[in-house]
Amino acid sequence: MQYLEKKFDLPALDGISQKSVEEHLGLYEGYVKNFNGMIALMGKLMADPEENAHALSELERRLSFEFGGMRLHELYFAQWKGGAREISGGSLKTTLEKQYGSFGQVIAFMKNVGLMRGPGWALLYFDPEAKIFHMGFSGEQHRGHFVTLPVILALDVWEHAYILDCGAQGKGKYIDAFFKNLNWGVMEKRFDKASSQ
Ligand SMILES: [Fe+2]
Repeated sequence: MQYLEKKFDLPALDGISQKSVEEHLGLYEGYVKNFNGMIALMGKLMADPEENAHALSELERRLSFEFGGMRLHELYFAQWKGGAREISGGSLKTTLEKQYGSFGQVIAFMKNVGLMRGPGWALLYFDPEAKIFHMGFSGEQHRGHFVTLPVILALDVWEHAYILDCGAQGKGKYIDAFFKNLNWGVMEKRFDKASSQ
């Protein structure tokens, strides 16, 4: 079993350079390769699980890190596909407004989560069962998730996402650029799928 790297046909972004996006896509591809390589290696080591117990347990421990890096970056890059588009007045917007008071508050809260210290992701989830959103910070990419909940919006706040364009102190500037370039049609589709579960 192998995962295939996804290709993203992205438009020029405002405030995030093509070079930064290219390097970032290279990191994403690394996660896919590492995940595939680790799965293959584990298959070989399983020929003698007792002899290879330490190596296997270390690989098992790292596996969700690589998977998180793969899947979250796929969510992240897809959000810019098709070019910037504001949110429509559809069900995602009205449901967010109902919970957070205004769409502006949603963005403000997400920025706040994104500005937390340490490498990780600011994530907006939707709980289809309770019909409510949750926002959270996933440390690195495998810690602190709201398990089982679909991700509606994924904001990468690892330093590699902004250091080239904005410098080490430029996380806030990068987060503004991230939001400016979003195609909200992508998140609306995710929400429609999540809310029909
Ligand atoms: Fe990243």
